[in-house]
Order: sequence, then structure tokens, then C-alpha cells
Amino acid sequence: MTTSFTSSSSSFDSTLLLCLIFAFFITPSSSNYLSDMCIKSKSPRFCLQVFGLNPHRRPYQLTREAINLALTNASDITKKIHTFIDQTEDFNLKDIYSYCLNYYQSVIDTLRSAEERLLNDGGYADVNDAGIIAQVNAFRCENEFQRELGYVYNSTLTKDNENLRIFGSILVSSINLLYNSTSVQKGSS
Ligand SMILES: *[C@@H]1O[C@H](CO)[C@@H](O)[C@H](O)[C@H]1NC(C)=O
Ligand SMILES: *[C@@H]1O[C@H](CO)[C@@H](O)[C@H](O)[C@H]1NC(C)=O
Ligand SMILES: *[C@@H]1O[C@H](CO)[C@@H](O)[C@H](O)[C@H]1NC(C)=O
Repeated sequence: MTTSFTSSSSSFDSTLLLCLIFAFFITPSSSNYLSDMCIKSKSPRFCLQVFGLNPHRRPYQLTREAINLALTNASDITKKIHTFIDQTEDFNLKDIYSYCLNYYQSVIDTLRSAEERLLNDGGYADVNDAGIIAQVNAFRCENEFQRELGYVYNSTLTKDNENLRIFGSILVSSINLLYNSTSVQKGSS
């Protein structure tokens, strides 16, 4: 689903997309979990683009997808950073990239163990933590470009860090939705 969207995204008319998204959000529905999740993320538009518009997904499935999409993205960005390291002769820049690699690796590790916890004992807290760590580490990586005193590098990872940050916010929103949907019977927050 995600791959087919990516390959056709260049030809996807953005006005049409906006109309679809608008129609999507005003469509009355008591159980449109996808829109509930996306509207609470940092970028509802990005969220709907990467998840596709099929609303027939339960919170658990959306959470699993959110973890996998974030994992794939973080791994792809990691590969990209490796090629950047290989391509530059600047040791400060190599340094910055290796800090970013550490941040991304820790996001990947956290996501993997969160997924394991979710599958094994239905633990939600780790997914929430992973979502927060993704957002914090994206911010840290972006900041590393200003770590050299008296010299600010133009970040080559701004878009990637932004993507990871949004994926992190989607994770938090999906796990809240999952938590809410399973705690309805308790009747309390
Ligand atoms: C990360 O995901 C976004 C949204 O699908 C995509 O635009 C971007 O190209 C991905 N990043 C990499 C490095 O694949
Ligand atoms: C950063 O980008 C700006 C605008 O593109 C450019 O003017 C500036 O020279 C760049 N700085 C470095 C350190 O490359
Ligand atoms: C979950 O429920 C809380 C309390 O009712 C609410 O504030 C929050 O927005 C809900 N989260 C989602 C993702 O629906």
C-alpha cells in the first residue's frame, strides 16, 4: 500500500488530494480511527498520505502499521546518512553524521523492542516512549549541524528529521487511540 503510493506520488494531483482529505475529514463516522489518529498527529496531511485513505483499520492495526512505517523510514534514513558520511571529506561533518547515526539507531532499537512488547504482552507504554524518542532524536540530529563553534552547517537532513518527527507523533497518537479504544468499558480517563 505504501509502496504503490510512493511510486505514484509524483503524478498524484495535490488539489485532488486536498479534496479527498477534506471529504475524508467531514465524512461523518463514529469509528474512523484513521482520521482520529491522523488529526492528532503533527501533520494530518502527511499522515493520510503515508497511510492511504482506507479507513477500515482498527487502532491495533494502525499502531502496527505506524511502527513499521517509522522503522522503514528510520532505516532508510540511516542508509542515506551512511552514504553522506562516505561522500564527505569534512571531518566535522563526518562527526555530525555519526551523532545522527547514533540517534537514528537508538530510535530503531526502541521501535523494535516496542513492537516486541506490543506483540508479546500488549504493552503500550513502550510504543508511546518510542514515539517520543523518535521526535526528540530527530530534533537532536537536526541540532548537531550547529554543534561546531562558530560555524553552522546547512543541514542535509532537515526533511528526513522532519519526517521522523511526524512519524513519532503518529506513533503517540496511534497508541493513545489504541489505549482509548480498549479502555472505553472502564468509563474513565
Ligand atoms: C520517509 O517517509 C516519507 C513519507 O513516506 C518519504 O517521503 C521519505 O522519502 C522517506 N525517507 C526515506 C529516506 O526513504
Ligand atoms: C547555507 O545555505 C545558504 C542558503 O542556501 C547559503 O547562502 C549559505 O552559504 C550556506 N552555508 C553554508 C555553510 O554552506
Ligand atoms: C484519548 O482520550 C483522551 C481523554 O478522553 C483524549 O483527550 C485524547 O484526545 C484521546 N486520544 C485520541 C488519539 O483519540
